Amino acid sequence: MKNYKIAVLKGDGIGPEIVEQAIKVLDKTAARFDFTVDYDYADLGGVAIDNYGEPLPQATIDKCKAADSVLLGAVGGPKWDDQPGSNRPEAGLLKIRGALGLFANLRPAVIFQPLKSASPLKDSIIGDALDIMVVRELTGGIYFGKRGTYEQDGVQGAYDTEMYTVKEIERIARVAFDMAMKRNKKLTSVDKANVLDSSRLWRKTVIEISKEYPQVELNHMYVDNCAMQLVRNPKQFDVIVTSNIFGDILSDEASMISGSIGMLASASLSEGKSGLYEPIHGSAPDIAGQNISNPLATILSVSMMLKYSLDQPKAALAIENAVTKILETHRTPDIYEAGKAKVTCTEMGDLVADLI
Ligand code: IPM
Ligand code: MG
Repeated sequence: MKNYKIAVLKGDGIGPEIVEQAIKVLDKTAARFDFTVDYDYADLGGVAIDNYGEPLPQATIDKCKAADSVLLGAVGGPKWDDQPGSNRPEAGLLKIRGALGLFANLRPAVIFQPLKSASPLKDSIIGDALDIMVVRELTGGIYFGKRGTYEQDGVQGAYDTEMYTVKEIERIARVAFDMAMKRNKKLTSVDKANVLDSSRLWRKTVIEISKEYPQVELNHMYVDNCAMQLVRNPKQFDVIVTSNIFGDILSDEASMISGSIGMLASASLSEGKSGLYEPIHGSAPDIAGQNISNPLATILSVSMMLKYSLDQPKAALAIENAVTKILETHRTPDIYEAGKAKVTCTEMGDLVADLI
């Protein structure tokens, strides 16, 4: 029987409660599809600052590297707001992306049919369905470029630099083209090539790689226009590929269009098979510990893990179907709608697990 080793980083805030539900569902899925899972727990974010004095201890990196994949809850909270920038929980997140070489971030923005009315956009704009995949470069660009603070003539300044090499652009472009090939064969590359040198290199490189994918229809869009097009006509998009910072912003916008930020999962992939899977939403410290959070995005992150890292597509689909089905009858408070049963985080976990 196939056995997988998963490193689990529960993190902060609602992280522990949502991850527990995801594990419950994964265990049930494993029993049903004949594989076993071992979990190796480690600290990341605020909890790691409390226990080790730093947001990403070496022990956590080692456990993640030894695992087939990593499941993460969420990190951060007001408790660690006075930490210096380099020791904040978020710095742990950036470091683990670098340490594990997670250069490709997949952020699907989909509308779950039973939640259609939650979208802030008109029905006429959304149509029957919305399914956009944002492929965000995750270990380069301004997040990892040369930075600093300085003082000149008694005035303080600070800078961060957007930098990309051809190699970095090529590899993220290939991930995006491969993704487009599995979907509707449409790729939009987003840049700011009318202003930035790094974007001109981005565009030129994406065009070069497109020659390997003659079946994919490629177009280019400036980031400001893309922000506008996402609310004007989101249906024009299939796969979007873009830099670290543009992807950070556009993926939040795309997830909001779906109206279900509490529902969206993400995958961060390296050159190999392994990846890090986490919900798109944050640690929601204001509602932590009350058992009212929504575990579905984390449960769907497990589904993505089964699909992209563990070669268990049928098990992945079983989870997706269970989530779509349960939404017809049961809701956590964040997505509650009259006529449905209101359930807690743990009850939602149980209900999904029962449907597997
Ligand atoms: C995200 C978050 C992170 C990012 C922060 C928490 C460092 O906004 O994953 O989108 O900017 O990448
Ligand atoms: Mg973000």
